[in-house]
Amino acid sequence: TYVVTEACVKCKYTDCVDVCPVDCFCEGPNFLVIDPDECIDCTLCVAECPVEAIYAEDDVPDDQQEFIAINAELSKQWKPIIERKDALSDAEEWAKVKEKRHLLER
Ligand code: SF4
Ligand code: F3S
Repeated sequence: TYVVTEACVKCKYTDCVDVCPVDCFCEGPNFLVIDPDECIDCTLCVAECPVEAIYAEDDVPDDQQEFIAINAELSKQWKPIIERKDALSDAEEWAKVKEKRHLLER
């Protein structure tokens, strides 16, 4: 499966949603996750994300490992998002911030 990581927090550009052939992204207030039971590993979303938040599970950086469980957990709680929408306001500013996982709203 593929995994959305910290870079997405407070940006939520949603370009990834448009290309997913199985609509497996789910949306929270300021983050998206991928449902690991639905992702077919097509890789298409990776290049779409302007902040490079998406990794193959096996390639998730060491400091982002907790997002594997976060995607699995929150995809069971959040609703699917199937269409691209505007990024969050201030997304460009938050795109420069590395440490922001504590701001993830559930
Ligand atoms: Fe969807 Fe493909 Fe990305 Fe998985 S890898 S989330 S199937 S676009
Ligand atoms: Fe997030 Fe990147 Fe998608 S910022 S919403 S993973 S395009």
